[in-house]
Amino acid sequence: MNEKIENLLEENRKFSPSENLVNNANATSDWFTEANEDRIEFWKKQALERITWYKEPTEVLDDSNAPFYKWFKDGELNLSYNCLDRHLETDADRVAFYWEGEPGDTQEITYQDLYERVCRLSNALKKLNVGKGDRVAIYLGMTPEIVVSMLACARIGAVHSVVFGGFSSEALADRINDAQAKLVITADGAWRRGDIVPLKENVDGSLSLTEYIENVIVVKRTNQEISMVEGRDHWYEDITKNESSECEPEVMNAEDMLYILYTSGTTAKPKGIVHTQAGYLTGVTTTHHEVFDIKDDDIYWCAADCGWVTGHSYIVYGPLANKTTSVMYEGAPNAPDEKRLWNIIEKYKVNIFYTAPTAIRAFMKWGVEHPQAHDLSSLRLLGTVGEPINPEAWMWYHQNIGNEQCAIVDTWWQTETGSIMISPLPGITDTKPGSACGPLPGIESAIIDEKGNEVGKGEGGYLAIKTPWPSMLRTVYGDDQRYIDTYWSQHKGLYFAGDGAKYDDEGYVWLLGRVDDVMNISGHRISTAEVESALVSHEAVAEAAVIGRSDEISGEAIAAFVSLIGTDQGDENLISELRQHVSDKIGPIAKPKSIVITADLPKTRSGKIMRRLLKDISEERKLGDVTTLANADIVSELQSRAIDSDDE
Ligand code: WTA
Repeated sequence: MNEKIENLLEENRKFSPSENLVNNANATSDWFTEANEDRIEFWKKQALERITWYKEPTEVLDDSNAPFYKWFKDGELNLSYNCLDRHLETDADRVAFYWEGEPGDTQEITYQDLYERVCRLSNALKKLNVGKGDRVAIYLGMTPEIVVSMLACARIGAVHSVVFGGFSSEALADRINDAQAKLVITADGAWRRGDIVPLKENVDGSLSLTEYIENVIVVKRTNQEISMVEGRDHWYEDITKNESSECEPEVMNAEDMLYILYTSGTTAKPKGIVHTQAGYLTGVTTTHHEVFDIKDDDIYWCAADCGWVTGHSYIVYGPLANKTTSVMYEGAPNAPDEKRLWNIIEKYKVNIFYTAPTAIRAFMKWGVEHPQAHDLSSLRLLGTVGEPINPEAWMWYHQNIGNEQCAIVDTWWQTETGSIMISPLPGITDTKPGSACGPLPGIESAIIDEKGNEVGKGEGGYLAIKTPWPSMLRTVYGDDQRYIDTYWSQHKGLYFAGDGAKYDDEGYVWLLGRVDDVMNISGHRISTAEVESALVSHEAVAEAAVIGRSDEISGEAIAAFVSLIGTDQGDENLISELRQHVSDKIGPIAKPKSIVITADLPKTRSGKIMRRLLKDISEERKLGDVTTLANADIVSELQSRAIDSDDE
């Protein structure tokens, strides 16, 4: 970590917001003043201003049973109503989404259209016996139906669990089982770089591993032959077309569950992060307004997938509740070629663009001629999320996408936090390339040392949040103890984020990556334990250790070390079989980039696998002290074989 800290300290470039941004910004420094004076009052004001309530809450925060905090607990509302119905009187014809399919087909979906689609599906779901509190799995690509499905669940009070379309049958089944979902909404397939991701086939695979699913709704998208089971599987088109385009929204309590979203932790079992209604909506609408400085006539594009929290908060709930016009794109950024995104920005005159550092590094690699071939002058603000952005990538983004005219917001947050926590504000903050700058109004972050004491300027430690905030997770689904253990047990009363961070001499916050056994691959969290379990489930494997090693494009790449049952020897065929096995078990994103087969894994005398050592070996760093190793000679053996077996 020291090395990183020193590098970052050399970053002294600073960028002030343009006069135009300063003069017109949604959020002014008054926001900080207000929030500092009375944080609770600040959040109350946001909640009352931004949400249309059936019943306004009388209490803001109930902290009597910490860490099971409740926000706005006697308020009543419906999120689908807040995202749709309330806009119709004045803005029915406003475009909610300019949707761009990967093959080039498009849809222009107004708020009225979206409302009607959501109501039809809501009615169809009710007929399939889905009601308030029931869990619905959504396993779709980035077509409009993924948004419609989420909002239809919210409308009828069902709890959605969106499972990223890149996950395998088994990963989907695990999530269905954990949430006990009774229905799954999927599609025949999804387009990805011209290929079909066989979503329905994957669902079929998962259904043999779960008994909870009663019905499957299937969107037609890729048109290949799929199998449909009479009585259980229903075409989306068939079950929605005759339904009414009106559906009374369910009145929800502020603390009713809105969704579960699974994320990796330090064990192999994914955690179902639970979000509720009113606090979540307060968090996402406030931050969407302040951080993206969204204006009434803006065209906004969050280029994430709804399978991740970024899509939940900044494609669906935040923007729609704020009546935003968004662009939504189905496919890969390089389909049919590396100009696709820039083509879309030019076509729709996008003003605000939000993406991940891993994407920016890919753009850098593809070459500046691609963005240069398009007119990107409509852009005013750029955002990044998902992992630390290295200063050079920030500068590249600033120069080549932003034409040195755009503010850049590097937004730190997590599935658990629900909305952005640490970020510059476009009209206020002088930004530094690579720094997320500081906590937003109403958020109290800290960097603490091992003992839980706050560190000072120029020092590093663990990132923590000192006080509850409205869009925080409420628990881990079905496992309150894990919620307490993971987030609230390191230092009493502090939320532990699992990230390392430091302050520079001016008190700017710099994120330094995960401090637990969670990797960040292309901005997606994958636990080392999960990949290890997948490897060990292969019949040839005795033991596996997995680490993230630094990688130019994906930030981190998965490196695996395995020992085999009954032999020390493996070959290229076995290695590719193992990689495929992990992909089958978890999904292609978890495929190790390299696998080294070894007779034994380096362990401490107490039998703990020394992952840090493996990381050093993989990154060819000079080795630290290995004298506590029980099997020290394995190290030199491994070092000579830490070859990259990647073939992609
Ligand atoms: C990392 C994504 C540095 C961090 C919204 C966090 C970041 C994890 C940033 C959450 C950022 C996210 N700078 N690191 N701007 N944003 N991270 O749950 O390690 O998919 O804990 O939520 O991503 O990932 P998650």
